Amino acid sequence: WNKIALIGAMNEEIELLVSHMTDINETVKAGITFREGTYFGKDVVVCRTGVGKVNAAVTTQILIDQFGVEAVIFTGVAGALDPELQIGDLVISTECVQHDMDVTALGFPRGVIPYADNSVYTANPKLVALAVASGEKLFAGKVKQGRVLSGDQFIASREVVASLYHELNGVCVEMEGSSVAQVCAMNGVPYVVLRSMSDKADGSAHVNFAEFTVIASENSYKMVEDMVKSL
Ligand code: ADE
Repeated sequence: WNKIALIGAMNEEIELLVSHMTDINETVKAGITFREGTYFGKDVVVCRTGVGKVNAAVTTQILIDQFGVEAVIFTGVAGALDPELQIGDLVISTECVQHDMDVTALGFPRGVIPYADNSVYTANPKLVALAVASGEKLFAGKVKQGRVLSGDQFIASREVVASLYHELNGVCVEMEGSSVAQVCAMNGVPYVVLRSMSDKADGSAHVNFAEFTVIASENSYKMVEDMVKSL
């Protein structure tokens, strides 16, 4: 991979990437600032997608079409669904699903996009393996692989957590990964999503999110840095 996109949704999720880049060249498209440059010897494009699936989708398509990225690594925070995950722990996506895709009224299972070939987007096995190696090295015992769920909703309810965990088999929930994953799949571009838990998506999620987003973003960043160094 000659050029890699390293992206997050919020400032906290990308600022450590930007501060470790050199030779930065900024371009603004669709209101998104794309920073091309060098990161530990690799050609990268770093940007903040903005929150939610539409922002993430538009940004990913631009990264592929206009910047020619050959792989996408998403870094950021998420709400934990798996009860074993503690705040600060890490998730590496094996696949992504949009939990708010709901055409159940017409008989389609929850999370399934009607008439699409596929609604479950598999992460690139090599990127997953590299992330697992970095995770085991830096955060042994605090890393899980599994299905990342995305939707345009901040989840803050134990009942919703239970249904996302048991019905849709998600290990964590966030608001962009599956949209990045879908655009990557549509374009044949490899991707992986790395997320550190800022909260447990329950009644305390809003308080925890505010408190732990910086430290969780830092944990996810550390995995990305280690991973990219070994690419
Ligand atoms: N990102 C971090 N925490 C989240 C939550 N509880 N729901 C959705 N996205 C999140």
